Amino acid sequence: MSKRVVIFDTTLRDGEQSPGVSLNLQEKLEIAHQLARLGVDVIEAGFPIASPGDFEAVSAVAAQVKGPVIAGLARANRKDIERAAEALRAAEQARIHTFIATSPIHMRHKLRMEPDQVLEAAVEAVKLAKTFTADVEFSAEDAFRSDVEFLCRIFKAVIDAGATTINIPDTVGYATPQEYGAFIQSVINGTPNMERATVSVHCHNDLGLAVANSLSALENGARQIECTINGIGERAGNCSLEEIVMALYTRKSVYDLDTSINPTEIYRTSRLVSNLTGMLVQPNKAIVGKNAFAHESGIHQDGVLKERTTYEIMNPQMLGIFTNNIVLGKHSGRHAFRERLKELGFELDDENLAKAFARFKNLADRKSEITDEDLVVLVEDELRAVPEAYRLDYLHITSGTVLVPTATVRLKREEETFEEASCGDGPVDAAYKAIDKITGVGARLKAYVISATTSGEDSQGEVSVKLEREGRFYTGRGVDTDIIVASAKAYLNAVNKIVYDRTPVPKPERAV
Ligand code: KIV
Ligand code: ZN
Repeated sequence: MSKRVVIFDTTLRDGEQSPGVSLNLQEKLEIAHQLARLGVDVIEAGFPIASPGDFEAVSAVAAQVKGPVIAGLARANRKDIERAAEALRAAEQARIHTFIATSPIHMRHKLRMEPDQVLEAAVEAVKLAKTFTADVEFSAEDAFRSDVEFLCRIFKAVIDAGATTINIPDTVGYATPQEYGAFIQSVINGTPNMERATVSVHCHNDLGLAVANSLSALENGARQIECTINGIGERAGNCSLEEIVMALYTRKSVYDLDTSINPTEIYRTSRLVSNLTGMLVQPNKAIVGKNAFAHESGIHQDGVLKERTTYEIMNPQMLGIFTNNIVLGKHSGRHAFRERLKELGFELDDENLAKAFARFKNLADRKSEITDEDLVVLVEDELRAVPEAYRLDYLHITSGTVLVPTATVRLKREEETFEEASCGDGPVDAAYKAIDKITGVGARLKAYVISATTSGEDSQGEVSVKLEREGRFYTGRGVDTDIIVASAKAYLNAVNKIVYDRTPVPKPERAV
């Protein structure tokens, strides 16, 4: 049996189904390009029938992201499949991923269909999908709560109809590792033509077992893992890509399986997804959490200083996690700046380099020690995908125990300058009200989170906000040594996304 595990990333589809997450076209493209750099085999770019935005995003990813197979989700019906095929037309390698529920509870209450009708719909769906692409995945939704014999019957029929990947999801995250492994083995053994397809698993994390269940499935013959960056997804999320990949890598002697993932891109991908979705990574999250490589107790610190492997089973540098080296200061020149960025994996063109360098000098005036983390935050901020319709030109705050918090804000939009003042419940509220007066986007602040991005007393503050407008969510992020300025930048970042959303989005080129 092959030792190669196919990594099917569904951050842009199941991940985007996380409550409160809504990515725009540019953000989806940015994530998809990064997933390609990370080395995933398949990118599930969306559910094209779900909305015009999803359709545009799948089309754009299909046209622009080269390397991985691009998949589009479709229920087992003609309209969904035709829409998915249309969205995937420009892909180098396209996969239609069609699904229908197979558990008694779903068939009876949700689909109101008899098992034989479900089987027939599945076969028809696969046959239709096959007319558009050779690469067709069939998923039996809620497979783990389905009858094994029925599953084997339906899988045999869809493989005969041309399905090349068979996905056996634990849709509600109900399984335990031993049970799920045994279940996968029974399904494989009970499906006579299963050797003609790749067996895939898709585990949800309702009991915190998604990664453990996926590993158990691999031990029992599965060879495709469906997963998301930072484990985001419906409810408690999906199997986390970084956790399963690093489990396979670090415990190679146990699993003896390989993936195509480049681990040095893991941390950057995690940060990008967190920044763009507004879903913060919990500090103690395995692999990519802030504390994953932090050693607090004196005994541990002593051990790590003497020999890293005393308390570290993975090398953080291998994951692209920066050590807190003091690399540059205010006397550093453009050449040193460019070289350090190159080492950190950023190749900027001259225009972006000039902008980033100006910001670096500005930061160096206010912060004595510029670490790798500072540089990455600064460059990521500079490379934000959404055009800056409004730029913060000036911010003045008066606040204190006996003063009414008041903000004066000046914004630039192209060559025009706008200025407004406002009072508020606090300095941040006052600044936001002044920005609202200028931009008039009429959004509501739904979430505001502040954290320190880098360590040290003069650390930079990072603010993430989520705005809601007409049922859509827009995340924004701002970084500065001054937290009120960071707050204003985050708010403007989200406002700019709203402005961008209201301007027509250029149609992607269709190569075919
Ligand atoms: O959780 C699930 O079953 C899914 C399917 C559509 C694969 O997301
Ligand atoms: Zn799912």
